[in-house]
Amino acid sequence: MNILIIGAPGTGKGTMSEKLIEKYGIVHVSTGDMLRESVKNGTEVGKKAHGYMERGELVPDEVIHDIILERFAQKDMENGILMDGYPRTLAQAEDLDTILASLGKKVDCVLNLELDEQVLIGRITGRRTCPNCKAIYHIQNMPPKVEGICDICGSQLVTRKDDTVESLRVRLDAYHESTKDVIGYYEKQGIVKNINADQSVEKVFEDITEALGECND
Ligand code: AP5
Repeated sequence: MNILIIGAPGTGKGTMSEKLIEKYGIVHVSTGDMLRESVKNGTEVGKKAHGYMERGELVPDEVIHDIILERFAQKDMENGILMDGYPRTLAQAEDLDTILASLGKKVDCVLNLELDEQVLIGRITGRRTCPNCKAIYHIQNMPPKVEGICDICGSQLVTRKDDTVESLRVRLDAYHESTKDVIGYYEKQGIVKNINADQSVEKVFEDITEALGECND
C-alpha cells in the first residue's frame, strides 16, 4: 500500500510514521529528513535547500523532484511506501502521480492529520529530535528516559533550527497556501482520510490503522 501522511507542522506526521513503518514494514520517504541530511552533509541539494528550510519556506519543486527521483531509483519499495511531508504543492502531487504511474504504482490512501493551531505551537517548541536515529521526543508529552539523551541510540538530542515561533508562522502560511490544495487534489480521488491528531499517540495511531483498513477495502 502506498500512503501519504499530510498535515501542518507539528501535527505528528513523523511520530506516526515511526509507528507505521514498524507495523507495516513499509519504506519511509520523508523529504524533510532527506533535506536535513543533505544540509548536514553539505551536498549541492543541501546548499540549495538550507536557506528556505531555516526560514520555514518550501524548498523549490525542482529540488524536491530531483531528490524523489533519486530515492525512488533505490527499488526497495515492494512492500509499499509511506510518504511523509511530500507532496506539498499541486505540482509535486502531479509529479508524484507521473513517477508512480511509470513504476505501475499509485497513491492508495492519504492520511490528513488535523490539529488546532494553538496546540501546534506547544508541540513544535517542545520537540527534541535525535540527529542520529531521527527519533522524536517532546519535553512534556514524550520525554526521553534521561533528559537530553536519545533512548534508542544514546545520542545528544537537539532542537531543530526551524522549530522557532517565527519559522513556524512561515511554515503554517506555506501549509495554508500550498499544501491544502494537495488535500483537495486527493479529495477529488476519494482517498483522503481525516484524522483527529489532538488525541493521545496511541489513539491517533488506532484511528490511522482503522482508516488504512477502509482504504484497503
Ligand atoms: P518537515 O520535516 O516535513 O517538517 P514539517 O512538515 O514542518 O513537520 P514537522 O516535522 O515539524 O512535524 P510533524 O508533523 O512531523 O510532527 P512530529 O511527529 O515531529 O519539513 C521541514 C522543512 O523542509 C519544510 O519547512 C520545508 O522547508 C522543507 N520541505 C520538506 N519537504 C518538502 C517538500 N515536499 N516540498 C518543499 N519543501 C519541503 O511531532 C511534533 C511534536 O509533537 C513532537 O515533539 C512529538 O513528540 C509531539 N507529538 C506528536 N504526536 C503527539 C500526540 N498525539 N500527542 C502529544 N504530542 C505529540
